[in-house]
Amino acid sequence: MALILTIESTCDESAAAVVGDDLTIHSSVVATQEKLHEQFGGVVPEIASRAHVERILPVIHQALAKADVALSDVDAIAVAHQPGLAGSLLVGLMAAKSLALATGKPLIGIDHLQAHIYACRIAAGRDVFPCVGFVVSGGHSTLYRCDGPLDFTPLGGTIDDAAGEAYDKVASMLGLGFPGGPALERAAAGGDPGRFRLPRPLLDDDSRLDFSFSGLKTSVRYQLFGPGRPELDAASLDPQIVADMAAGVQEAILDCLIGKTRLALRQTGFTRLCVGGGVTANKRFRQRLEELAAETGVELFIPPFSLCTDNAAMGAIAVERFKAGQFDDLDLDIGAGLQRVS
Ligand code: KG4
Ligand code: ZN
Repeated sequence: MALILTIESTCDESAAAVVGDDLTIHSSVVATQEKLHEQFGGVVPEIASRAHVERILPVIHQALAKADVALSDVDAIAVAHQPGLAGSLLVGLMAAKSLALATGKPLIGIDHLQAHIYACRIAAGRDVFPCVGFVVSGGHSTLYRCDGPLDFTPLGGTIDDAAGEAYDKVASMLGLGFPGGPALERAAAGGDPGRFRLPRPLLDDDSRLDFSFSGLKTSVRYQLFGPGRPELDAASLDPQIVADMAAGVQEAILDCLIGKTRLALRQTGFTRLCVGGGVTANKRFRQRLEELAAETGVELFIPPFSLCTDNAAMGAIAVERFKAGQFDDLDLDIGAGLQRVS
């Protein structure tokens, strides 16, 4: 059986895994940097890339050790080279290229967002294509038409903030800490989602599959702290107001995510839906996706939590390129923005 070492460093997790060509995950190691960024209320790119430099080789060593294989035993080295933070991507890519050069093993570049969707294939243990793929994370809210494991076409995405980022920024305004997604979800549990009127941008526009969440942040800010450039004094907020606003924001975000997913399913005619990325950890989102699946009759795939947040096991999408003989040269570069790959 062929083995692939996969490397992930697109944002603030340094990760490596050893996967088999039958999609067995032999090891998966993730070093998070949450503590380093907490005090800044968001990921600081320069800190992230420096932390990757320190962690990437120990993480790779651990992944090999846990799988009980030597570097010489692997048949290819795969790396998520797009999209992500430029400095972070460079660290993983340079590590992968160096190992490929030193060992003579083939190099496989993978797309991080496609890997998030492929996590559904790994978890399902069976084919999930063709499907609508949806990545909902801190950096992306992107819908794909996935005709096959090597054939992804972006259908739409956010024109400003990602859904996870909106969760994080609003949570910060509400004084809920970082990362804000889980904290806002907890706060929303005791809230009335109907108390505040919040926008659902682009939701009624059936001509496009895009999202916009930055206006939502502004609306929250003005409704809580008044117009102009108010001081964002979260400590002064009544806990019930925090809970109601959290619940309202969550429903506004989810209305947009679910509405556009429904439209993507209608437009493609596909009957499978694969969702990945950190926001899929959200229970209310999962519930709304399950309701959508029941309403439309589509088959829904969501990976377990460990495969939803950033990890290198989902880099097993490299197996598809390995089997197809699609390798990259050592001049492979990073692609920081969203790319069309098919
Ligand atoms: O995929 P991910 O681990 O990293 C990337 O951004 O690529 O996603 C992280 C995002 C953060 O914005 C975090 O707040 C959000 O996922 N998130 C959640 C929840 N858990 C994590 N958002 C809403 N509800 C959650 N329970
Ligand atoms: Zn991600």
